[in-house]
Amino acid sequence: MTEWICTANRGFAAYAAEELRRLFPGMKMMQLAAGEIFWIEVAEEREEALERIHSKEPIFLRHLQPVERKLPIRGSADDLQALGDVVRHARLRFAGHTVAVHLRRVDHSPFPYSAADTKAVLDAVLMETGAEPTVKSPEQIISILAGKDVLYVGIGTPEEQLSDWPGGAVRFQREDGQISRAKFKLLEAEQTFHLDLASYREALDIGAAPGGWTHLLLERGLKVTAVDPAELHPSLAAYPRLTVLNKNAADVQFKQGQFNLLVCDMSWSPLQMCKLVLDLVPALEAGAAAIITVKLMHKKPLQTIRDVIAKLDAEFTLQKAKQLFHNREEITLYLMKK
Ligand SMILES: C[S@@+](CC[C@H](N)C(=O)[O-])C[C@H]1O[C@@H](n2cnc3c(N)ncnc32)[C@H](O)[C@@H]1O
Repeated sequence: MTEWICTANRGFAAYAAEELRRLFPGMKMMQLAAGEIFWIEVAEEREEALERIHSKEPIFLRHLQPVERKLPIRGSADDLQALGDVVRHARLRFAGHTVAVHLRRVDHSPFPYSAADTKAVLDAVLMETGAEPTVKSPEQIISILAGKDVLYVGIGTPEEQLSDWPGGAVRFQREDGQISRAKFKLLEAEQTFHLDLASYREALDIGAAPGGWTHLLLERGLKVTAVDPAELHPSLAAYPRLTVLNKNAADVQFKQGQFNLLVCDMSWSPLQMCKLVLDLVPALEAGAAAIITVKLMHKKPLQTIRDVIAKLDAEFTLQKAKQLFHNREEITLYLMKK
């Protein structure tokens, strides 16, 4: 039997739970933060549970924290002492590794310490154990969720926890002159899907305006054709590798196999989007990658996603479907042309 803390984007926990219940039919569940964070208990042991989750990763599950200890919150320095003891006890799992400490809290948790204070105390204990405390790219993460009355504590690799960010909340630095917040979606897709955007030659961006995705692709060195009836940000005119077509994506035509990357962020009816993308397939070379956001328009997102994937399956192999932290009422697909 194992316990886990599961996190989804706010409002999407029910879908993550539905996906998990398909993997673990008898699972017990308790909500910890409305629509976002919940606890589950499953009959499977850790390795078996992880294997099941990784073999069919739930689209809406953003973060997965093992629960190895539950410490009652006393609201005093005893809490930090108890956390320190957990870390000392697990020292063999840390020695010689880089280790991050992630603390999250539900609203109104009585745990009195900030993430920075908790990390400072546990980093000192980690150094005693021969581990190297870190923030970036840790090998192991000590995840702590401060609940209403207990601290849920678990240790795992970033792969096991599905992210190396606390709760899977990926943060990117805003840049001066950033064209759109949408750029973060493609940046996050690049990380999450382990893509090397710079390795592509030429991209077609449909639904490109105001141009955040196009900008990132240009920064990565690609030649880009951006299609959108709306105007792109004027700063993009500085890139000679950019071609802009102020048209509907249904009205454009290209050379056969011109592109090896298609990106599409149209916020449009999913089935209409599928038709547009499928019509543009001849412009893609075999093995081309596609990054596509799918708007979740109505109350049945899992069904919408199944329908979209089934339609695209005519021409593409799905690599991964995920609701990214920067996706709002949508998910992101990573596909490869057959
Ligand atoms: C969410 S915005 C895209 C944001 C963009 N990815 C960025 O990084 O700035 C959606 C865009 O899709 C465009 N769009 C919607 N339907 C379209 C169509 N049929 N053909 C081309 N563009 C379309 C809209 O004009 C809008 O500019």
